Amino acid sequence: MSRPILSFALLWAIALCGARTTSLGAQLTQAESQVLQDRLLQTNLRGPRWTGNENQYTMTELVAEGMENAGLDVDTIEYDFYRWDPRWWTLKLTLVNGTVIGVPTTGYWPYSGNTNLSGITAPLVDVGTFGILPTGDGDPSTLNLSGVAPLSSGGSIIFFDNPSPTHNYSEPGYHLLGTSRNISSSQIPELGNLTNPHWQGTKTLDWTALYQQGVVGAISAWVNTSDDNAALQFLPNVGSPGNGSTPNAYTVPALYVGSTTGQMIRGLLASGVVANATVVLKAPDVWAQTQTVVAHLDGAAADDTDDTILIFTHSDGPSIIEENGPLVLLSIAEHFASYTPKILNMSLDFVITTGHMSGHHLNESAWMSDYPELLQNAKFAIACEHFGALEWKDEFSSPSMTPVYSATGNLEPMWTMANESKASGSLHDSYLNAFDGTPSSLRMALLAPEYVNGTRSPWYGVGGSAVLGRSSIPTIGIIPQPDYLWASMTDGGWSKLDMNALMVEVDVLIALIQKLDARYVSSSDAESRSRAP
Ligand SMILES: *[C@@H]1O[C@H](CO)[C@@H](O)[C@H](O)[C@H]1NC(C)=O
Ligand SMILES: *[C@@H]1O[C@H](CO)[C@@H](O)[C@H](O)[C@H]1NC(C)=O
Ligand SMILES: *[C@@H]1O[C@H](CO)[C@@H](O)[C@H](O)[C@H]1NC(C)=O
Ligand SMILES: *[C@@H]1O[C@H](CO)[C@@H](O)[C@H](O)[C@H]1NC(C)=O
Ligand SMILES: *[C@@H]1O[C@H](CO)[C@@H](O)[C@H](O)[C@H]1NC(C)=O
Ligand SMILES: *[C@@H]1O[C@H](CO)[C@@H](O)[C@H](O)[C@H]1NC(C)=O
Ligand SMILES: *[C@@H]1O[C@H](CO)[C@@H](O)[C@H](O)[C@H]1NC(C)=O
Ligand SMILES: *[C@@H]1O[C@H](CO)[C@@H](O)[C@H](O)[C@H]1NC(C)=O
Ligand SMILES: *[C@@H]1O[C@H](CO)[C@@H](O)[C@H](O)[C@H]1NC(C)=O
Ligand SMILES: *[C@@H]1O[C@H](CO)[C@@H](O)[C@H](O)[C@H]1NC(C)=O
Ligand SMILES: *[C@@H]1O[C@H](CO)[C@@H](O)[C@H](O)[C@H]1NC(C)=O
Ligand SMILES: *[C@@H]1O[C@H](CO)[C@@H](O)[C@H](O)[C@H]1NC(C)=O
Repeated sequence: MSRPILSFALLWAIALCGARTTSLGAQLTQAESQVLQDRLLQTNLRGPRWTGNENQYTMTELVAEGMENAGLDVDTIEYDFYRWDPRWWTLKLTLVNGTVIGVPTTGYWPYSGNTNLSGITAPLVDVGTFGILPTGDGDPSTLNLSGVAPLSSGGSIIFFDNPSPTHNYSEPGYHLLGTSRNISSSQIPELGNLTNPHWQGTKTLDWTALYQQGVVGAISAWVNTSDDNAALQFLPNVGSPGNGSTPNAYTVPALYVGSTTGQMIRGLLASGVVANATVVLKAPDVWAQTQTVVAHLDGAAADDTDDTILIFTHSDGPSIIEENGPLVLLSIAEHFASYTPKILNMSLDFVITTGHMSGHHLNESAWMSDYPELLQNAKFAIACEHFGALEWKDEFSSPSMTPVYSATGNLEPMWTMANESKASGSLHDSYLNAFDGTPSSLRMALLAPEYVNGTRSPWYGVGGSAVLGRSSIPTIGIIPQPDYLWASMTDGGWSKLDMNALMVEVDVLIALIQKLDARYVSSSDAESRSRAP
């Protein structure tokens, strides 16, 4: 029954999308979107693309090859570093009467420490709550380390609970510049109430210093989130110090437990029945290769001007949401490369950077100093990632107020960071207009981070977008931030990817690129015009 309908749909699509013409066709063709869908599925099947693992390298190699086949000039920048490779982890408490309790964990603290399979056993100390500064960063001074035994007597394992910051884009730190289809901000209630466990990633601890104070292991408990939402959140900014050039810098094996488990541990500690804890975290250092891909597509005006639109994303992470940018950028490159004659006057530069999930051990902005001409030539910059993300949130329902993690039925809002210089006005207008005619499910908020009392609000997004956003280059950073963004999921995030939404978002980008090109006046044109009488 479904076969004839499918073939009818396919024929219809072919009739609609037909042959490539030179008119402004601001969308992927049916064939291009099918290829993109194939690549997303097949990339997801190979497993997560952690910084420096084989799957990441395979994807960046394929994307580089695809861009080269499409006729772009492609370079790769190769990096080596010690990747922290978590393999097995487990947590046990030994009570004073000899009973051993196996404790469920939600995961590990990335780039923290490494043990053998017997783990590290030491007395367990409750050091309280890891507090939050008004900036949203962690405040390590809130931890009470006075009960920690010195290293000379074997040290201690610490337990603390670890709330996540929240974001409020309705406060003066952000200026709402516009929305998709001019929808009212009331249709994006998340603006004033954004909760998200992965924001714990901004709460760093100096594990090297803590180790010197006797901390030989750690247990961090989630609060105000369900275990399902907390499960295997990989918080890439919170690793040990170091730049990945030396192995074994990771000294404090640290695990996460869910909120209820954390309360149980705290209760047992308070009643004095815990003799010690055993943290097993087998996570050796692996010397790894990873690469950033840089690709250039000449526009029709390339002989007269070097001016470009810079489009960039990152290639590493745990899910087909977090790092689907490279596959989208390949489709966009292929789309614009397929026109003869060229439909863009401006050239396009693509950057697919690595290092995003390296616990800051590999600098994901290094491409900016490796290829300074990328920034020199850019007249507009578009950072983009996380296409097609469905929204999942914890629901706190009365009477128990126990959080339950579930789909809200909406798409995650397309949060878009923007700089607010006068020069950026045409970028803002083009971007907002690129949403005309999009379905109502697509909710986008264009936000400029502002100075409040001398402090500028954070610009979130793939490495380097904040550098661009704070430069004189008109820049937007498209960064939907679903709760599961940094979570490992057994299906790789496939069930949280809305393929139709992804395709519409890609078409918005294609429309934006065409609108920017149509508005663009090259600096040489502008000069000759200003010289004219
Ligand atoms: C942990 O506690 C148990 C029970 O008191 C004790 O037998 C064991 O020696 C302790 N282990 C260490 C390494 O302190
Ligand atoms: C050991 O202590 C725990 C916690 O107080 C208790 O639940 C358990 O029954 C005790 N086990 C034995 C064998 O006494
Ligand atoms: C595992 O590591 C612990 C702590 O460093 C050490 O005491 C123990 O001897 C090691 N066990 C094995 C089998 O190597
Ligand atoms: C800090 O911890 C110690 C021992 O663990 C405890 O005696 C003390 O009361 C704690 N201080 C505060 C301010 O909670
Ligand atoms: C939104 O407002 C802008 C500026 O007023 C206008 O150009 C644009 O057409 C509007 N879009 C929609 C979908 O109403
Ligand atoms: C966010 O800020 C707005 C404006 O100050 C305020 O009305 C709103 O209540 C805040 N949201 C939360 C959850 O505090
Ligand atoms: C904020 O969002 C959370 C869930 O993300 C919800 O439980 C809470 O009621 C919301 N608060 C307000 C003031 O809207
Ligand atoms: C967060 O969790 C803590 C500890 O469980 C609790 O005291 C607090 O009320 C919770 N906050 C919210 C907003 O639910
Ligand atoms: C990384 O750190 C090591 C040791 O501190 C230093 O020798 C090396 O130059 C650094 N590498 C980079 C790329 O910063
Ligand atoms: C990362 O690279 C950028 C330039 O590409 C540089 O400005 C920045 O200082 C570097 N960060 C670190 C921590 O080395
Ligand atoms: C900014 O500073 C003023 C004066 O000190 C203060 O009243 C205000 O609350 C501050 N605003 C914020 C958002 O911190
Ligand atoms: C490209 O530039 C030429 C010459 O300046 C101009 O005639 C043409 O309209 C431009 N094409 C587009 C798509 O903007």
